[in-house]
Amino acid sequence: MDSLKKPVVAGNWKMHKTITEARSLAAEIASKAAEVREATLILIPPFTAICEVKKAVEGTEIKVGAQDVFWEDQGAFTGEISPLQLKEAGCEFVVIGHSERRQYFGETDETVRKKVLAALRHNLTPIVCIGETLEEREKGQTLEKISSQLEKSVFTLSPQDFQKIILAYEPIWAIGTSRNATPEQAEEVHSFIRNLIAERYGKTQTSCAIILYGGSVKPANSFSLIREKDVDGFLVGGASLEAESFLAIAREAVRKNEG
Ligand code: 13P
Repeated sequence: MDSLKKPVVAGNWKMHKTITEARSLAAEIASKAAEVREATLILIPPFTAICEVKKAVEGTEIKVGAQDVFWEDQGAFTGEISPLQLKEAGCEFVVIGHSERRQYFGETDETVRKKVLAALRHNLTPIVCIGETLEEREKGQTLEKISSQLEKSVFTLSPQDFQKIILAYEPIWAIGTSRNATPEQAEEVHSFIRNLIAERYGKTQTSCAIILYGGSVKPANSFSLIREKDVDGFLVGGASLEAESFLAIAREAVRKNEG
């Protein structure tokens, strides 16, 4: 069963692309999306470009996501964006707890937990990011960190809600560094996560759970990573900023289910 899950390839554009640039990148990806129909493609532009990206992918199966969300629906929260606003703009997904938000903007496991609940209330699929720093890895604390992040942010969800989320393992030392986790390192953490899910929610949930890997994913390393049993897809940063490299990663990802 697991091996037939459709790989998910999500492009987190971070703080890149003006509206005009975003429209043209999305249109280029959309024009070739049929080649990789066997993958679920998600484009995650900055807030300002969500509507235009949504229009540019109309008529394809490409989905659109946002990079963050606030936990209230509306109110005096200057600078924040609500799940209602994202939904109407055309989002179906939202990244929550990216390490850059944790590092620079004070995101914690508790705010991640609140944001996940808000997203689910509005039928947005949260893509929840977890991962260790280099120091934690070197001290042998990787699995402890992962387990603690999951416990505090998403293992409080009901089984019904838990099956609606996607997890993304993004080792912080691999983000934007050209130093991806080796397939063995990624698999170790992904299978650890799957075991934790089994303990908390049972066997069925764990086989359905989608766990993405993120951190210096490129066309050249993507097949070796996706080949691992517990890697269900990718959250791509830098390499998602050009249509060709993003699509090349998607082509590698769909090879997981071929023969
Ligand atoms: P890079 O692919 O640029 O390393 O970024 C990964 C990431 O942070 C995706 O969310």
